[in-house]
Amino acid sequence: MKLLLTGITGQLGTAVAETAAERGVGIVPVVRPDRPGLMPFDRAFPALAAARVTGDVREPAWGLSERDLDELAESVDAVVNLAGNTNWAGSGRDLYAVNVLGARNGLDVARELQRRSGRRVLYTYASSIFVAGGVIGRIAEEQLAADRHRTAYEQSKWLAERELAKQHRAGDPDVLISRVAALLGDSRTGATLKRNSLYLLAERWDDLPGRLLPAMRGAKVDVLPRDMAAGALLDAVTGMLRGGPRTEPVVTHVAAGERAPTIRGLLEVARALSPLSFGKWVRPMPATAEQVLWVSANAERFLPLSQAWRNSIIGLRYIGLDRVMERGRLAELLDGPLPAPSTELLARLLFDLPAPQRPVAPADSGLSRFLV
Ligand SMILES: NC(=O)c1ccc[n+]([C@@H]2O[C@H](COP(=O)([O-])OP(=O)(O)OC[C@H]3O[C@@H](n4cnc5c(N)ncnc54)[C@H](OP(=O)(O)O)[C@@H]3O)[C@@H](O)[C@H]2O)c1
Repeated sequence: MKLLLTGITGQLGTAVAETAAERGVGIVPVVRPDRPGLMPFDRAFPALAAARVTGDVREPAWGLSERDLDELAESVDAVVNLAGNTNWAGSGRDLYAVNVLGARNGLDVARELQRRSGRRVLYTYASSIFVAGGVIGRIAEEQLAADRHRTAYEQSKWLAERELAKQHRAGDPDVLISRVAALLGDSRTGATLKRNSLYLLAERWDDLPGRLLPAMRGAKVDVLPRDMAAGALLDAVTGMLRGGPRTEPVVTHVAAGERAPTIRGLLEVARALSPLSFGKWVRPMPATAEQVLWVSANAERFLPLSQAWRNSIIGLRYIGLDRVMERGRLAELLDGPLPAPSTELLARLLFDLPAPQRPVAPADSGLSRFLV
């Protein structure tokens, strides 16, 4: 299998590149021509430097040259678009350009490769479970209705999904929309590209006003280590390529779903694992969905907040709502088990808790070992 992949330098893309290498999946990365202030691509991914093509998802056909398209058509099985503007507090215009236009342009790239090659080519777009906006309860793996609670970021991801459904015609490449859960670092090493998403909560732990965390009683934290998300995403791509043609986009939740821990469970496990790691302790405060959503959307109107704080407060809705991402479609596509990280693993990754010590056998089996 060979993938044309955008967003490889991001949190999810890094993990997809690692997992693909382990599985022998080929990758052609699409890298922006200008990335000021960022580590040069060839230095970050020396093994992929020769394979890369230059492009920007905001451009028609991602700005890929005719020559690139001809060459790619010979070998690419799936176009996987992980490029995104992931700034929850970003401007609506920038979010739209990368997340919505980028998604639509990606479908055109897949169409073009399919046309030139005469083979079926799959298009995969990384959406987010946060397109659920303010909806609670069970969230289906289907197109979602309009919702007044969506933030600008959530709205851009929802519009992208809607755009793909609208643009999809008979004979087009199959489309897989993978709604990805919040991501933590690698489950084996803890490595994380940036401390986005829920890490912001961990970092502001000591500064939460009144040390109160507003959350619904059954609020869940749907989060995956990035390597688990990458593995499930690649499995879903394989599942789509294995199955027959689809008449409309397939939506899946690459998420912990029914296995996601409650926020209360996650916090208690973290405290039980390492009580001394927490100077202060926060208390989850029972709140309604409306209250959680209101605070996460409106705090900035009353408080002068830095961008990092605004991101943190928006993040409250990602740990404070009682909802479950369904995974039936994901299960249908995956050959093996669904991702199910333990609450202990998630607590350790989120709060950087020390790894458990392996017990050491006493050197002296006699009573003298008690005499220090
Ligand atoms: N991380 C999460 O918790 C999470 C959760 C749910 C869904 N998602 C979705 O998963 C996808 C990947 O997220 P992430 O966290 O890996 O994002 P990220 O770390 O912010 O990385 C974004 C990636 O997109 C690339 N990119 C940005 N603008 C581009 C453009 N105009 N043309 C081409 N590439 C561009 C960036 O390349 P440069 O290096 O050149 O900037 C980078 O590789 C996004 O669509 C996001 O919405 C992420």
